[in-house]
Amino acid sequence: MPVITNIDDLKRIYKRRTPKMFYDYAESGSWSEQTFRENTTDFELIRLRQRVAVDMTGRSTATTMVGQEVAMPVALAPVGLTGMQCADGEIKAARAAERFGVPFTLSTMSICSIEDVAANTDKPFWFQVYTLKDDDFMRRLFARAKDANCSALVITADLQIMGQRHKDVKNGLSAPPKLTPASVANMMTKVRWGLGMLGTRRHTFGNVVGHAKGVDATGSLSEWTSKAFDHALDWDRIRELRSWWDGPVILKGILDVEDAKRAVDVGADAIVVSNHGGRQQDGALSAIRMLPSILEAVGDKVEVHFDSGIRSGQDVLKAVAMGAKSTYIGRAFVYGLGAMGEAGVTRALEVIHKELDTAMALSGERDVRNLGRHNLLIPADFEGNWA
Ligand code: GLV
Repeated sequence: MPVITNIDDLKRIYKRRTPKMFYDYAESGSWSEQTFRENTTDFELIRLRQRVAVDMTGRSTATTMVGQEVAMPVALAPVGLTGMQCADGEIKAARAAERFGVPFTLSTMSICSIEDVAANTDKPFWFQVYTLKDDDFMRRLFARAKDANCSALVITADLQIMGQRHKDVKNGLSAPPKLTPASVANMMTKVRWGLGMLGTRRHTFGNVVGHAKGVDATGSLSEWTSKAFDHALDWDRIRELRSWWDGPVILKGILDVEDAKRAVDVGADAIVVSNHGGRQQDGALSAIRMLPSILEAVGDKVEVHFDSGIRSGQDVLKAVAMGAKSTYIGRAFVYGLGAMGEAGVTRALEVIHKELDTAMALSGERDVRNLGRHNLLIPADFEGNWA
């Protein structure tokens, strides 16, 4: 077994072990992928101050997200088709997260259903909502999340329609995977993955197929979402959905100050500053560049979370020191899952925790809740001068 010291190590193994169709799905941005690339390269522009001769004993990375205790300011983001990266992937990732003490967010577009994950975990997880046209389905979806004891709801605001990811179109991405000579030839080389898939009955969208009217899993992912998703989703509807849930609601996909204010108006308990990992509006600024102005506008009114571009504990530190309460990882845990299943997700969390803890100590801080702008060197023109 190779020695895993960083997230890129997991990514290399993941690429070897996972069918191309699903690796490409995770590792794509929309259109030219400019925003996808800049989500990570903009993190490199921020530097950390080094402080010395500070007592480093008794450090803590623990904090809270929407009032819930977390071992570090990192949650697992909702990722569609996680159960195609590895058999029963959502169950495995949820188990790794609960053992580590961080939230797991189950996507509406997961392979394992809400009920599957609840039956195979001990602690409450979070559920992410995509809005489908079928209103009965939506009401039942909220009730199913309640019955499963989900402890927060994450409503995604930035995907009524999908930004095009060219590779998904070329690969005919679908779940279960479409069998073409190229996809079969590729899958035959992924023995561990194939044996895992033979051992599970979970091969399609477990929350939706058989639950939503007129929805089956035939056709590609992009055809499927464009048929089933509610393109009319607006702030009134988000306000209504918020009123259906009596626990914390986190609104994900906020990248603009005006939208952040609307999110506060509709009663979100937290927002996630995010450009969906560069998978939606290509040409948008990176999420980390948008974070300061959104914090300035609403940071005292709502908890501000962050995703898009986190690949290390140093990235977590940068986002939190900038003022985000917490962060989410998507690709970073998927790499671990595709590489080594549940143990790989645990490894990804351990890697990020060690990086965060060490960087925090070398910043002269012992408590993640004390991180602040004083720990960062941010270029004067970081947010850009846009007309
Ligand atoms: C869905 O959330 C996607 O980004 O593919």
